[in-house]
Amino acid sequence: MGCTNRNLHKTGLVADKAMVVTAHPLASAVGAQILKRGGNAVDAAVAVQFALAVVYPDAGNIGGGGFLVLRQKDGSINALDYREKAPAKAHRDMYLNGQGEVIENLSYKGHLAAGVPGTVDGMVQAHEKYGSLPWTDLVQPAVLLAAKGFPLTQKEAKKLNEQRKDFLQFNTQRPEFILKNRWREGDTLRLLDLAHTLERIRDKGRAGFYEGPTAALITAEMERGKGIISKTDLANYRSVWRTPIAGQVGVYRVISMPPPSSGGIALIQLLTIAQDYPLKDWGWNTVATSHLMVEAERRIYADRARHFGDADFYEVPVKGLLNPAYIKSRMKGYTPKKATPSEEVSAGVPPLPEGPNTTHYSIVDAQGNAVSVTTTLNSSFGNKVFVAGAGFLLNNEMDDFSIKPGFPNSYGLIGEEANAIAPGKRMLSSMTPTILEKDGKLFMVIGAMGGSTIITTVYQIIQNVTVHGHTMQGAVNAGRFHHQWKPNWILTEWGALGPLTGAGLWIKGHKIAPKYGGIGRAAGILVLPNGKLEGGADPRGDDAAAGF
Ligand code: DON
Repeated sequence: MGCTNRNLHKTGLVADKAMVVTAHPLASAVGAQILKRGGNAVDAAVAVQFALAVVYPDAGNIGGGGFLVLRQKDGSINALDYREKAPAKAHRDMYLNGQGEVIENLSYKGHLAAGVPGTVDGMVQAHEKYGSLPWTDLVQPAVLLAAKGFPLTQKEAKKLNEQRKDFLQFNTQRPEFILKNRWREGDTLRLLDLAHTLERIRDKGRAGFYEGPTAALITAEMERGKGIISKTDLANYRSVWRTPIAGQVGVYRVISMPPPSSGGIALIQLLTIAQDYPLKDWGWNTVATSHLMVEAERRIYADRARHFGDADFYEVPVKGLLNPAYIKSRMKGYTPKKATPSEEVSAGVPPLPEGPNTTHYSIVDAQGNAVSVTTTLNSSFGNKVFVAGAGFLLNNEMDDFSIKPGFPNSYGLIGEEANAIAPGKRMLSSMTPTILEKDGKLFMVIGAMGGSTIITTVYQIIQNVTVHGHTMQGAVNAGRFHHQWKPNWILTEWGALGPLTGAGLWIKGHKIAPKYGGIGRAAGILVLPNGKLEGGADPRGDDAAAGF
């Protein structure tokens, strides 16, 4: 689906008290039910995560990972990193042949592409710290969806059919997803193996996944497919509470994900740069505005390639990257007249720290707590490998590492030492689950899927609302464009910039590459001036808002 600029001023679902926006109507309904029963935003997030693992298997998962950013009604904030980790047997050159060349697809498809899954531990930790309803009640809706089955949407049926060849090639045993020749809209998908796995998680929590029968099924799958995730890797996996990246940009306080995501820092850098230019006067998606945004993106993504990685393994210069003077300095060489060739842009040298130092869902509960979660298997249906007998897909997150310096990953992103593979390290992410405050009050919950385009999608949506006055739904509908330094082109949704802006950017020396099928998918919630909540569900997918 292409650009939806015609629906810029459409208002999304408006609810009085509480709202859930996810990639699938059944998952949104599960979240809303939990909130109606008096569950809080974290309870709903846990239930939604498990429901998505059933009804939205291309990204919803228990075999992947994600990030959760939380703002409680009292203003306190926290961030949970349940990103996958490289297995203990992983090593820097594991995807290279004897000549040092990259072996095609090895980090992307099949058993070796999987990192140690973090989702179940993440949900257990989120629930232990903040949950209010019993754990079993939060997993049960997903158990029922998997056991009873659910109707496939047209988009899901099409995607499952498209994956058939890969599912056959990369699985050691035939998964439930390909029992039929061709899925059609409305067909019921029942996932009985997954239902049993979810029952174990419901009854035993963390141990239901990282120990016992599920762990045994994962390691058996690894042995059959020559993967390297071991029993010890599973037993050792722990998600981590981290201090969110938080920064004041104009009247907004931006709360987002720290490393191993690049999202929070890059988003604050982009929003800070935009403050210095009269984008409102220049107008929405005009040549001047989109040129400035693209030039900022080019520079910030050059920094991303050099400086970003898992801060537990590599000293990411977080403070330096967020230093306002440094951010300003990145626009050196910018001219409104023409595009800066990417070859002339390199990563900056952020000041040293002073002393020691892929699906998104958004939820606001009736008390005003907000949760912003982006979770992923990396690409659609992850590494395409189902854990036989356990009925769930594994991630292909290892491809988010820099498998060789300068070699582009599936999103064209390059990296260096900061994001090299090491045992137990987390791969760099672009996921940007974000919460905005205005005048100390909750203002927006936002995030997106879309690999490298996540950061720029979140950036544009925030700009659309805060600078150009769009509704939440309109800002999500709006056509998107993206620049990531290398490759040196502006990726745009079809028609997103309009012919005049396109021509104007071309005259300045920009290359424009249309992307069919849309850039990212976002899910947002905006607090309206009257205190009601507006949902922004992405029309590019089956996304839906539910609220009351
Ligand atoms: O963590 C990341 O940045 C990616 N693995 C996200 C993947 C994603 O958004 C999938 N969408 N195309």
